[in-house]
Amino acid sequence: MTFPRLGVIGGGQLARMMAAPAAELGVPFRVLAEAEDASAAQVAPHVVGDHTRVEDLRAFAATVDVVTFDHEHVPTEHLRVLEAEGVAVRPGPDALVHAQDKLVMRAAVERLGLPNPAWAPASDLEDVLAFGQAHGWPMVLKTARGGYDGKGVLVLADADAARTSAEEGTLGQWLAAGVAPLLAEAHVPFTRELSAQVARTPSGQVAAYPVVESVQTDGVCDVVTAPAPDLDPAVAEAASAAAVRLAEALDVTGMLAVELFETPGVGPGFQVNELAMRPHNSGHWSMDGAVTGQFEQHVRAVLDLPLGDVTALGRGTVMKNLLGGTRKDLHTGFAEALAAHPEAKVHTYGKGVRPGRKVGHVNVVALGERTLADAASAAESAAAVLRDGATPSDPTQEPRP
Ligand SMILES: Nc1ncnc2c1ncn2[C@@H]1O[C@H](COP(=O)(O)OP(=O)(O)OP(=O)(O)O)[C@@H](O)[C@H]1O
Ligand SMILES: [Mg+2]
Repeated sequence: MTFPRLGVIGGGQLARMMAAPAAELGVPFRVLAEAEDASAAQVAPHVVGDHTRVEDLRAFAATVDVVTFDHEHVPTEHLRVLEAEGVAVRPGPDALVHAQDKLVMRAAVERLGLPNPAWAPASDLEDVLAFGQAHGWPMVLKTARGGYDGKGVLVLADADAARTSAEEGTLGQWLAAGVAPLLAEAHVPFTRELSAQVARTPSGQVAAYPVVESVQTDGVCDVVTAPAPDLDPAVAEAASAAAVRLAEALDVTGMLAVELFETPGVGPGFQVNELAMRPHNSGHWSMDGAVTGQFEQHVRAVLDLPLGDVTALGRGTVMKNLLGGTRKDLHTGFAEALAAHPEAKVHTYGKGVRPGRKVGHVNVVALGERTLADAASAAESAAAVLRDGATPSDPTQEPRP
């Protein structure tokens, strides 16, 4: 008997962060990367190929025992071909489609009796206006497929804004590009965003991480605090139960993240935003802040190995995303950041720095005397030094422009 070989489709930072725990466990690991210099291709055995070409997927799958994903963009029809040829695809296409298509996801959440905002498919301006009239303004429009980091999300303030957007704005572009039907949603007046993550194995073992708070800035994940501070325990329990329910009902294998809106006093205190079936940015804290990090857990889960303990360490962990800033590289500030914050766990992805691009993250665990507030300021400060060099507390640096 040998260890099962794991293949990851997609060479982004998520595949890169699976490589280390796979190596620790002794699991043979390969990546189908989009380019020779892709984030994961820098650190793991790989082949370069195109995840939209079934021939490339087939050739890759022939070299491993289980296939999983760095992203959600592999066409489900290709995955069905692989499955028909006996490849273990985890999560499988019937689960994955709920992370690919927000209309399919909304219908499933509704079918399971879990809390959705009001929603409807919208194929033209008339549908959009009718939805706004029925459910109120502002309203939210989303492309059903292909959105990420807030791209593919449009908030419409009122009927005039909808008309203008259809004539000369984003809505018009979407309709012209033929991406309808779109997803129309009520604009949720949430108090904050939460995320509930669970792991599930093909044998049915499930492990639920503590529910976390996630702050988005300009539609991009910015800071995650785990566990979510001051979350009503009943809401936390219901949110975890909803994530487990979704994982079981949709037959998810591997990591599932359920993005949630906190809505105190409405329904169970939250509504479902969307699903991701892979390790997720809202779970990066667990790499340093839980007994078993989400990347190790994903590897265990898709290989149908027993899951690891998901207990959070200390008082919790703050994760700060590192987005590209004014510096063109990350190594200029690297030693400075490490020196200033030995408590910070710095993760960088080997990606070119462009303003706003996710290029790394920093975790600080609230251990010993350190409070969650201390962890938050240390994570912010370490990320700021890496990103731009100057920090407000550092008078030796030039102020930021
Ligand atoms: N119905 C809504 N009401 C209020 N705000 C919303 C709504 N839907 C989305 N948002 C805001 O827009 C953000 C992005 O939306 P969503 O998660 O659907 O898009 P995405 O681009 O697929 O996200 P991701 O970056 O997670 O891939 C949400 O995190 C939230 O801040
Ligand atoms: Mg989202």
